[in-house]
Amino acid sequence: MRIRQDTTMTTPDTPQVPAGSTDPGRRKLLIATASVIGAAGLVAAGIPFIDSWWPSERAQAAGAPVQIDASKLEPGQQLTVAWRGRPVWVLRRTPEMLQRMHTPQHLQRLRDPDSSVESQQPSYARNEFRSIHKEHLVVIGICTHLGCVPAFRPEVAPADLGADWIGGYFCPCHGSRFDLAGRVFVQVPAPTNLVIPPYHYLSDTLIEVGVDSELT
Ligand code: FES
Repeated sequence: MRIRQDTTMTTPDTPQVPAGSTDPGRRKLLIATASVIGAAGLVAAGIPFIDSWWPSERAQAAGAPVQIDASKLEPGQQLTVAWRGRPVWVLRRTPEMLQRMHTPQHLQRLRDPDSSVESQQPSYARNEFRSIHKEHLVVIGICTHLGCVPAFRPEVAPADLGADWIGGYFCPCHGSRFDLAGRVFVQVPAPTNLVIPPYHYLSDTLIEVGVDSELT
């Protein structure tokens, strides 16, 4: 596994990936470009981006499950893997992150705090933190508005996101906001929470994406 500090800067022309695009090549290119923009948020946060475990083209095409070793993740760090051509984030949430998402004030600002839209997560992730174990968020990093890749912004109250920002994901395309459970805020274009993929644990820190948990 390699740890790198991405120094790529954002551009004014933020790519958009229509959810219904029928051109797989163009969609793949745009998602890859948007991934770079998402990584730029990490630079602002001063947090290393962990680049690892990109499976073979053949495995991606087949939609094969992807195993993720989360043992090297420090609290507050996130890594990205590709699964079925889409970025999947694994975030190791700190107790402080979880606590900040637990307050009534925060929950009132969310469109679907209880994950009532069933298509957005498996049943075993339909809980307060949208995960099997609350320490790890496993989520598809594609905005539910028009398919851009949001930026990981774990800082609290950064100048550009406002005093009430408690850490989350910010989509640069049209300003949608999600918390660190992938729950969408009210008054943004994205209609639903980010999608939680099927996954399960092979050990305490080895996660397999693409295979449902036995808890279903
Ligand atoms: S794609 Fe429009 S807000 Fe994310």
